[in-house]
Amino acid sequence: MVIYYSGTGNSAHCAREAASALGDECISAFAYIKNGIAAEFSSARPWVFVSPTYGWRLPGVFADFIRSARLSGCREAYFVMTCGSEIGNAEKYLRELCREKHLAFRGVLQVVMPENYIALFSAPDAQEAERIIACSRPVLEAGIDLIRRGEPFPETRPGAVDRLKSGPVNRLFCRYIVRDGPFRAGDSCISCGKCAEVCPVNDIAISGGRPVWQGHCTHCMACISRCPVRAIEYGRSTRDKERYFLDK
Ligand SMILES: Cc1cc2nc3c(=O)[nH]c(=O)nc-3n(C[C@H](O)[C@H](O)[C@H](O)COP(=O)(O)O)c2cc1C
Repeated sequence: MVIYYSGTGNSAHCAREAASALGDECISAFAYIKNGIAAEFSSARPWVFVSPTYGWRLPGVFADFIRSARLSGCREAYFVMTCGSEIGNAEKYLRELCREKHLAFRGVLQVVMPENYIALFSAPDAQEAERIIACSRPVLEAGIDLIRRGEPFPETRPGAVDRLKSGPVNRLFCRYIVRDGPFRAGDSCISCGKCAEVCPVNDIAISGGRPVWQGHCTHCMACISRCPVRAIEYGRSTRDKERYFLDK
């Protein structure tokens, strides 16, 4: 069973591709996370968890979703992490998660997809995004082939810098960088509520027709990227930047 979490569509896309190639079910964790429901799934085939990389690790909300899910049947778990450049030492924490869940860790596949983190970086333009997605295809296909053959993904080979990034730097990142204070909706806001609808953690309340962020954002970039009138900015850092969302 393929289970995914996605803020701006990259991981949803990879999950659908994997599920279709494997002839397996594809389930989004979004509604479970948004509604605080502990999932209950059964599968005779390996679990394939697909997710973005946040701070060189699995997003905390997705790790918590897996932690609280009741997974019966197959005990093998593969992870596919989409990222803008690299996943660091994510593998260490995935192994720990698997130990907690009594799952056999079958490896993590790093799939470089277009960068979506416009609060800090820039997303590629449409043409460059197409090129990056085209380059990701053979990587994903090779991973799918290993799952199909029941073989593990190759081990990642993290160095000292990767260990730092996924360890102490990740903790600093979560504490000091992932803040929603700078989010604002400007006068072009049409009060459609799309931002609140797509927020996986219900961080957005609508007050006086405008979104108000509530302080428990995960920086997934869904609200700012999916606003139909580009009314949302993250301080000054997103002004004049491309928004990124993959809808296929
Ligand atoms: C909060 C946040 C943290 C991120 N951290 C990393 C990272 O550590 N390494 C990396 O290569 N990409 C990082 N990215 C980029 C995303 O992992 C990447 O664009 C991913 O494919 C987005 O997936 P999605 O469209 O399914 O949400 C980060 C993006 C966000 C929003």
